[in-house]
Amino acid sequence: MQAVVWHGVGDVRLDEVPDPGISDPTDAIVEITTSAICGTDLHFVRGTMSGMVEGTVLGHEALGIVREVGSGVRNLRPGDRVVIPSTIGCGTCSYCRAGYYAQCDRANPNGPAAGTCFFGGPQTTGPVDGLQAQYARVPYANIGPVWLPEEVTDEQAIMLSDIYPTAWFGCRLAEVGQGDTVLVMGAGPVGQFSITSAYQQGAGRVLCVDGVPSRLEQARARGAEVVDFNAEDPVAVVQEITAGVGVDRVVEAVGVDAQRPERGPAAEQAEEQSAVFEQERAQVAPEQHPQGGTWVPGDAPSQSLQWAVQAVAKAGTIGIIGVYPPEMTSFPTGAAMNKNLTVKMGNCNHRRYIPRLLDLVRTGAVDPSSVLTQVEELPSVLDAYATFDQRGSGWTKVALRPTG
Ligand SMILES: NC(=O)c1ccc[n+]([C@@H]2O[C@H](COP(=O)([O-])OP(=O)(O)OC[C@H]3O[C@@H](n4cnc5c(N)ncnc54)[C@H](O)[C@@H]3O)[C@@H](O)[C@H]2O)c1
Ligand SMILES: [Zn+2]
Ligand SMILES: [Zn+2]
Repeated sequence: MQAVVWHGVGDVRLDEVPDPGISDPTDAIVEITTSAICGTDLHFVRGTMSGMVEGTVLGHEALGIVREVGSGVRNLRPGDRVVIPSTIGCGTCSYCRAGYYAQCDRANPNGPAAGTCFFGGPQTTGPVDGLQAQYARVPYANIGPVWLPEEVTDEQAIMLSDIYPTAWFGCRLAEVGQGDTVLVMGAGPVGQFSITSAYQQGAGRVLCVDGVPSRLEQARARGAEVVDFNAEDPVAVVQEITAGVGVDRVVEAVGVDAQRPERGPAAEQAEEQSAVFEQERAQVAPEQHPQGGTWVPGDAPSQSLQWAVQAVAKAGTIGIIGVYPPEMTSFPTGAAMNKNLTVKMGNCNHRRYIPRLLDLVRTGAVDPSSVLTQVEELPSVLDAYATFDQRGSGWTKVALRPTG
């Protein structure tokens, strides 16, 4: 079969690889009908999330048709159409039973202390071959995949695999409640769904910061008040429109590839920190292979976290869903401590939220396909990766269709 394979930092390829097979009784083999590229995949190719193993199939967002099930899978049968959660949980351990599927004790082959197990990630997460492929082996298929009703389209369902649940989870972490003023850092696909989720969870007002005009325009169309960090100082704008109080909640949906402003009033302060940012970048991305303008690690890993702490009100809450690698050690602890902030973070417990969000989609309350901007065939996947990496205008979310 064909699959997108990680060969090195700055080196992804479309390879011919062996078809996967059932190895455990709770496995299923799913023929992937739609997959997607995520900001998380970019961290692996830029080198800001290290520890990838050469030969790992990339991708952790997909849906498809079940083709084969192991003897322990009682809930699915060949022919079922399912969405696959990005993170893998056993459903049986105490963590899964409490809803912490992303901290399952059994799914990660590296042991209970290794933490989150997910498709197409670094060695510490499995590694488990990913979903940007024609077929995938899905472990714990008796728990993970969620059956899709016919009326939910592929373009809608692909958003339920990772980014809509993650955004929902981010708003739960940030404790978004009735009437809250919420700041969403980042207008990538996760940021877009964070805006929608914040309103669904009761937000009265949602602000969104990014530096890419086309993404900010999408955020505005979802009801956010948008701030371009290359044109304005985002913290000053937040102070101004909250009468000096700050926002109640922040959802951080940027992650380790955060950038600093290139121009505008916030650029000068960022420039003063350039040595610190450079040090952070060297720490999180010990190996870098930028090619021209592609696969360039973000030049200010802690920029978005700093703005989050500065923009939130005293005693406010920050939910961090942007991905940071274990090597990332800088966070403005002192500033946060002295404001009595609550800070929560983590990998989404996808399986916990997907059924409820699927219901919202099925009943027409939300059409998640509005975030999708591109659908590409598998042969053009490498170009799609490069354009998405460069945040090409209008390229917010890319779905892939593995052809037969
Ligand atoms: N926690 C989880 O379970 C989980 C799941 C999925 C994705 N993620 C992570 O969420 C993050 C966002 O994912 P995505 O797919 O939307 O990625 P993305 O790369 O498409 O979006 C990130 C956005 O942040 C913007 N940005 C860069 N620097 C900024 C700054 N200083 N301030 C504000 N915005 C800035 C970029 O312009 C971009 O639009 C990534 O780190 C991804 O790995 C986490
Ligand atoms: Zn993802
Ligand atoms: Zn478990």
